[in-house]
Amino acid sequence: MTVLVTGARGAVGRHVVTGLRTAGVGVRAAGRDPEQLDGPDRVRLDLTDPSSFGPALDGVERVFVYVTGDLTAFAGAAASAGVRHAVLLSSESVLIEPDPEPGGIAAHHAEAEAALRGAGLATTALRPGAFAGNTGQWSRGIAAGVVDLPFPESGTAPIDERDIADVAVAALLADPADESPHLTGPESLTMREQIGQVGAQLGRTIEVRAVHPDVAREQMARYAPAGVVDSLFRYWRETDGVPAAVTDEVERRTGHPARPYRQWLAEVFTTP
Ligand SMILES: NC(=O)c1ccc[n+]([C@@H]2O[C@H](COP(=O)([O-])OP(=O)(O)OC[C@H]3O[C@@H](n4cnc5c(N)ncnc54)[C@H](OP(=O)(O)O)[C@@H]3O)[C@@H](O)[C@H]2O)c1
Repeated sequence: MTVLVTGARGAVGRHVVTGLRTAGVGVRAAGRDPEQLDGPDRVRLDLTDPSSFGPALDGVERVFVYVTGDLTAFAGAAASAGVRHAVLLSSESVLIEPDPEPGGIAAHHAEAEAALRGAGLATTALRPGAFAGNTGQWSRGIAAGVVDLPFPESGTAPIDERDIADVAVAALLADPADESPHLTGPESLTMREQIGQVGAQLGRTIEVRAVHPDVAREQMARYAPAGVVDSLFRYWRETDGVPAAVTDEVERRTGHPARPYRQWLAEVFTTP
């Protein structure tokens, strides 16, 4: 069996590649620039460029897919090439916003899920909540010792990217299924608590400074698309002071408990 892994150097995709290779499965690692990838079977694949689909999908039975633009053409090409199962890196946002605003984060992911299923592919749509790696968004503040937050009490259950990859690998090795597991880390933490754990890991105090949402929003709007900014602020506002849902899907599907955020910090986080 050959599995095509899109986004093979992504924070999740790279661990999917490693997990499949460790399991002895044939992996075709894909990216827009294959020179950036390791391993014997590497291919150029741009999910928005149909001319790159044929060589990438030749002889492939299963695919790991990132949400990127309109996946309709890729899904159709995959089905025609004989792909039997797609594992999509979707998002919890689809659950939080069942009737999503056009152009927002939930809409992008819901459209990607629909594109794969619409092409007739059995689809495991992984729906993780906030990644532990989002900690990187606070790098400058962590380095400065002060992190500005519009909603410090927003609750998330940060999930280790390696756990998402482990679930993806388990799904790619199992019989094709059509399902949408909600993946979370093992505990709900407020953003303030996350930053407290970062400080403990680094051995110093990091202040959390509340910033007015309008100010934070204006700053984010300078570099992020409007739909994404709207989605994030809606999400943070709604989760302010509300503990995040925690599921047991990681343990149920991989046989190991979801890694705690503290462990992610100790093993992955480097001093900014
Ligand atoms: N961060 C969160 O809290 C969160 C929560 C839920 C869901 N998610 C989902 O997870 C994704 C982020 O995962 P990550 O952290 O692993 O991402 P990442 O490290 O930023 O990697 C993104 C990958 O996407 C690939 N890619 C981008 N455009 C592409 C294109 N046109 N064609 C083919 N590949 C393309 C890139 O491959 P190359 O550059 O090599 O081409 C890259 O490897 C988000 O986009 C979202 O869909 C995130």
